[in-house]
Amino acid sequence: MRTRPLKVALLGCGVVGSEVARIMTTHAADLAARIGAPVELAGVAVRRPDKVREGIDPALVTTDATALVKRGDIDVVVEVIGGIEPARTLITTAFAHGASVVSANKALIAQDGAALHAAADEHGKDLYYEAAVAGAIPLIRPLRESLAGDKVNRVLGIVNGTTNFILDAMDSTGAGYQEALDEATALGYAEADPTADVEGFDAAAKAAILAGIAFHTRVRLDDVYREGMTEVTAADFASAKEMGCTIKLLAICERAADGGSVTARVHPAMIPLSHPLANVREAYNAVFVESEAAGQLMFYGPGAGGSPTASAVLGDLVAVCRNRIGGATGPGESAYAALPVSPMGDVVTRYHISLDVADKPGVLAQVATVFAEHGVSIDTVRQSGKDGEASLVVVTHRASDAALGGTVEALRKLDTVRGVASIMRVEGE
Ligand code: NDP
Ligand code: HSE
Repeated sequence: MRTRPLKVALLGCGVVGSEVARIMTTHAADLAARIGAPVELAGVAVRRPDKVREGIDPALVTTDATALVKRGDIDVVVEVIGGIEPARTLITTAFAHGASVVSANKALIAQDGAALHAAADEHGKDLYYEAAVAGAIPLIRPLRESLAGDKVNRVLGIVNGTTNFILDAMDSTGAGYQEALDEATALGYAEADPTADVEGFDAAAKAAILAGIAFHTRVRLDDVYREGMTEVTAADFASAKEMGCTIKLLAICERAADGGSVTARVHPAMIPLSHPLANVREAYNAVFVESEAAGQLMFYGPGAGGSPTASAVLGDLVAVCRNRIGGATGPGESAYAALPVSPMGDVVTRYHISLDVADKPGVLAQVATVFAEHGVSIDTVRQSGKDGEASLVVVTHRASDAALGGTVEALRKLDTVRGVASIMRVEGE
């Protein structure tokens, strides 16, 4: 074993960083044996230097992250600050000063992954970010390495724990959105400002990263269609139950049937109770990968939390340190396929549409005609109502999102349609 230690700069020592530091200390001997050299925590950059940090030598703590990454003797920078700046500049500065980088920063990788990979390549360094998608669950490495010889056609998953907790609570207790969010907040799952989670931004960043790796294509954050889950109601869950389904916030990355393009989207969807993703409870994450040769693979586990996320960071740290000792680098960005990313209108799926209509002769025929005129085939119709008003639930066969959008627009214009109560995609059948 090499005796000269590899030096690690830790940028950020919060929920994830403090666990990274703890595991580096408590598992130092095992890590050294696995890497082939000891690993030394050379500095810890934070915002509040006076905060007491258990297990961290105060002499290592600094507020000058830039000076730390510029030291020149740092082998690996672990970035767990989060956000775009200063994380982005610190990472590029780290490459320029000879360090490889491990990051958990999905927002930054989704937004600037291509430029960061280019900077890593320019300096012959590694950029690893297993923790950026679904916390502890190994996903980036299986897609990037284990499935490198296969052709991935679809990635379908629950990649946000906070929203899964809320939806699971709504499903199991009949609670409304706000009540379930309040419970998630009280239990520490949801942040004080839950916007990034409940509006789907967090899941969209993860979808962009997954789609890019799965399809060897650059997928920008703007390419990902995004709908949050704040509009999901207890009534939607009741409808889902009648169909033998539940509702999940899904990230779906797909290769088109002709293989010539891809799509990436995040939205709530009904999913059959028989589908493995339907049984992912509480704040857990799970991702289904469908590939040509391997078939269906499912990855499941804790998608957040200090210790689980640190596990993924440490896995990357070991890999990057091994590369460093071997004088090599691991796989960089693979975007050679450069497939076009199609808009949401091209996505083909099934829909569950709930309409409030007048209950009088000819209304059903009128509604059915609108569907037919837009080329959307109806699978089932269910009507219930009284006192001249009715609720009409239409489930379609597979149709494009554009065709469905046109249908709904035309339905809204019918005098007999009082309102479109909900539109939900049906996935996983
Ligand atoms: P925290 O907010 O808990 O920690 C952030 C850390 O960064 C703190 O130690 C903070 O210092 C430090 N920091 C903030 N600004 C600066 C700055 N300008 N210079 C130096 N240090 C700074 O975040 P998390 O640990 O939760 O998240 C870190 C990253 O991991 C994010 O990218 C996040 O998306 C990702 N991630 C988090 C998961 C989780 O479950 N928490 C799961 C998966 C990924 P101070 O302590 O002084 O405030
Ligand atoms: N807020 C995220 C979640 C953390 O709830 O899954 C992990 O990225």
